[in-house]
Amino acid sequence: MKKKIAVLPGDGIGPEIVDQALNVLYAIEKKYDHEFTLSKGLIGAVAIDETGTPLPTETLDLCLDSDAILFGAIGDPKYDNDPKAKVRPEQGLLAIRKALGLYANIRPVVNFEILKGKSPLKDEIVEGVDLIIIRELTGGLYFGEPRERRENGTVAIDTCVYSKMEIIRIVKVAFGYAMRRKKKLCVVDKANVLETSRLWRETVQEMIPDYPEVEVEFMFVDNAAMKLIVNPRSFDVMVTENLFGDILSDEASVITGSIGLLPSASSGDLTALYEPVHGSYPQATGKGIANPVATILSLAMLLEDSFGLSDEAADIRAGVDHVLGAGICTEDINPTTNYSTSVVGNAIAEYIGNNGVVDVDKITSAASVPV
Ligand code: IPM
Ligand code: MG
Repeated sequence: MKKKIAVLPGDGIGPEIVDQALNVLYAIEKKYDHEFTLSKGLIGAVAIDETGTPLPTETLDLCLDSDAILFGAIGDPKYDNDPKAKVRPEQGLLAIRKALGLYANIRPVVNFEILKGKSPLKDEIVEGVDLIIIRELTGGLYFGEPRERRENGTVAIDTCVYSKMEIIRIVKVAFGYAMRRKKKLCVVDKANVLETSRLWRETVQEMIPDYPEVEVEFMFVDNAAMKLIVNPRSFDVMVTENLFGDILSDEASVITGSIGLLPSASSGDLTALYEPVHGSYPQATGKGIANPVATILSLAMLLEDSFGLSDEAADIRAGVDHVLGAGICTEDINPTTNYSTSVVGNAIAEYIGNNGVVDVDKITSAASVPV
């Protein structure tokens, strides 16, 4: 198969983790005889530094001309600590989501059996968790107008807007997932307070008769945040608006043991984008300690969802299981480990290239030298 992939490493640890996903991609390309053309583009703080804008036109054109996008991370503390900054790295990510119409963000949360005891939650709570958060990605508070300062800057306004059309298209995606899974859908909102949430509820209620097999539950977001920790196994597919989805997916990452393990896919009208759920982790930049697994699993989603390469995706996931199971992981999973970002990436690539055999001694001796 021949495909074009736009690679946007972004900020902080973005370049390091994307390098390891590419390491794994080369192994897949070789083993399965594919031809992937990779082109790198600038986005985020690095793009601001070089071009003055967080999403240069060339990057957007590159994405439009590609079959899929692999994205690293975005954000830089020099902007976080400057609320007055006119241009911010995050605007690059929001702009690309909007420009490509990527309204459906899929965030699977699976408990890895082999990481037993790593979650701050008790084993009996997280065991067997397998849920998907479907987050609406191009509406709500993130994009509503007006968003501005008034009264000499002393009053700030953000606006939450949702149209029925936006709700229908994301909820359809959620019903699709529910139909292919346990046929359970939880719609998360704040309908006891927000008008937009009431429109969500009303719209979903109108859609329910089209999916008679799916059991639909409505849940207020505050309650959902609590249930996600108390009984995460009770969820299968969750669907929610942009900001609630952002918050709940970070929260859900504790179930897996580390946010460094959570991949995501964003799809919609144009080229789909795949990225880890975590951010740019600036404190870790350049230290070789960032966990590349979320990006590697995002690559698996890319191959499966955008190119239909399910065997290749399964190979990557098996590699991740094997390598983590062998204890080859970064310090977010095991604080006493000294395995670096590239050692973990190399081990997964080796699993793929070497038909499931990883020479742990070779990896271990490589690990004593910072890579
Ligand atoms: C995410 C991130 C982004 C978001 C930031 C970086 C703008 O937190 O993808 O979850 O809030 O959507
Ligand atoms: Mg987030």
